[in-house]
Amino acid sequence: MKKLIIANWKMNYGPIRAGGWIRAFRRERLPKDLDIAVAVPFVSLAAARASLGRASIPTLAAQDCFWANEGAFTGEISPTMLTEFGVGLCLIGHSERRANLGETDEMVARKAAAAQKAGLMPVICVGETAAQRKRGEAAKVVRSQVQTAIAEVKGDGKAPLVIAYEPVWAIGTGRPCSPLDAKEMHEQIRGVLRKKYGHLAEEIHIIYGGSVDTRNVAEYMTTTGVDGALVGGASLDPRNFGLICRAAVPA
Ligand code: 13P
Repeated sequence: MKKLIIANWKMNYGPIRAGGWIRAFRRERLPKDLDIAVAVPFVSLAAARASLGRASIPTLAAQDCFWANEGAFTGEISPTMLTEFGVGLCLIGHSERRANLGETDEMVARKAAAAQKAGLMPVICVGETAAQRKRGEAAKVVRSQVQTAIAEVKGDGKAPLVIAYEPVWAIGTGRPCSPLDAKEMHEQIRGVLRKKYGHLAEEIHIIYGGSVDTRNVAEYMTTTGVDGALVGGASLDPRNFGLICRAAVPA
């Protein structure tokens, strides 16, 4: 399958800087055999869309959505609103939201189902904390996160799903998970997907996130079962993100 690389700006770049990033990234030489998306803050979607014009690379992604399409939910953004910007993917349940805003697996499940229904591909983020890994619970925690999150998510159709394995201890620390540990966890995740989706599970991207950079991305991409990467800090510079995309797919 084609690899998938997603930039996650997190809470960086308002509309003024978003356009510049998109224009600079558009000047990068990009491998054809790679799907590329960029997850921008809600308020920067319009600027990013305007800078993209008719170009379809990178695909626009959102960093979150709510589980209802309209109604009395002050401050929330619905999946159908996101489709008006041509958003194709939506991160769901990023660990920073779980940690800072108390998002639970059940909330993640509702959001993922709603995103998919609206035609957005949910990128469901899962991952254990350092303490959970230390206690030997990593696989159990991650399997359960995935199981709950995909309860109402379909494995086929135009917007299936992506699972992003992002161990909390590897995010923003410069201490990435070893490719071997990532491989093992991706196998666990694939197992959960197989139980629910059967043969369709083989087509679902399971991507890795956590301190991915220009130096280590190639190693992940050549690791069996790692179908792409979710890149935070190293994606903030458009040229650096271009380098990552080129390193991901050897010419
Ligand atoms: P870093 O690449 O900065 O570690 O962030 C990873 C991440 O959380 C992407 O969603």
